[in-house]
Amino acid sequence: MELKIALLKGDGIGPEIVDSAVMVLEKIAKKFGHTFIFTPYLIGGCAIDETGMPLPQETVDGCMASDSVLLGAVGGPKWDSLGGDVRPEKALLGIRSALGLYTNLRPAKLYPALRNASPLKDEIVGDGFDLLIVRELTGGIYFGERGLREGRFGTEAFDTEAYSITEIERIGKAAFEAAMKRRKSVCSIDKANVLESSRLWRKTMHELSEQYPEVHYTDMLVDNAAMQLVRDPKQFDVIVTSNMFGDILSDEASQITGSIGMLASASLGASKRGLYEPIHGSAPDIAGKDIANPIATVLSGAMMLRYSFDLNKEADAIEAAVDRVLEEGHRTADIIGTDKSRTPLGCSEMTKKILKVI
Ligand code: IPM
Ligand code: MG
Repeated sequence: MELKIALLKGDGIGPEIVDSAVMVLEKIAKKFGHTFIFTPYLIGGCAIDETGMPLPQETVDGCMASDSVLLGAVGGPKWDSLGGDVRPEKALLGIRSALGLYTNLRPAKLYPALRNASPLKDEIVGDGFDLLIVRELTGGIYFGERGLREGRFGTEAFDTEAYSITEIERIGKAAFEAAMKRRKSVCSIDKANVLESSRLWRKTMHELSEQYPEVHYTDMLVDNAAMQLVRDPKQFDVIVTSNMFGDILSDEASQITGSIGMLASASLGASKRGLYEPIHGSAPDIAGKDIANPIATVLSGAMMLRYSFDLNKEADAIEAAVDRVLEEGHRTADIIGTDKSRTPLGCSEMTKKILKVI
């Protein structure tokens, strides 16, 4: 296959980790007889520096003309004092919306080799957990009506959470379909005891669940879910939730794996074109030092092969290589834990280990 991949390296460690993933994808292309054509575009702080805008139109057009998009990370202290519309983060929201990527898949699993990295006690973790957060990504309070107005106590700011049945149904379908390929369980998370939007969310999910009789369906209030994630994460298979609750719970879920540097994500819409990125941020404090963990971005590349291109063998090859490298005991600094007998590998050294196994 010949496929066009847009690269949005972004800021901080973004360029180094995307370069690692590109090397891995190139190796896969060679091994399996594909051609991947990579084209870089600006996004985030580096785009602000060069063009004055965090998401130049050229970047949106380039992504639209590609078969899929691989993103590093955006943002850093240099751009933190800028106003809402020109912040690097605005570019993320803009590209998700422009590409219609309403489904965000954020898997959080405990790697057996990294069990000691989890902050949870052994009796909670047991033989590990493997859950998938399906986060709605182009609606809710992130995109609702907002502004400043005069209120009872003077000037106030407001943001609005709104969800239509159509939006709830399409993210719900994504979650049920994902569950059918996993352990067939969906937990929908909301705040239906307080929010009107959550009551419609819950009702719609319930109705949708009737179309998937094989899937065990439950719902849970978000405050309880935050607690259950650290009390008993093994109870979850697929979690489906709104944009903002998903943002918060996915950070919590990544933290209990103990290895945020390992977690990949996929953002998908109605077409095959997706946007794939590590869950972690731009880590400006370690940028350019060649010590970042490239694995989350490498695994994001694997997700791209699987979800956008249906190249499952190729994706398996990447994931197996990562497992193998970890089992051999190789670690970057973020996942080395308390084991003083190991020397941490840098970003490029870790990439080489993965390439060698492939
Ligand atoms: C994420 C991030 C973004 C979000 C920010 C940077 C806009 O936290 O991808 O989880 O809130 O969606
Ligand atoms: Mg977040």
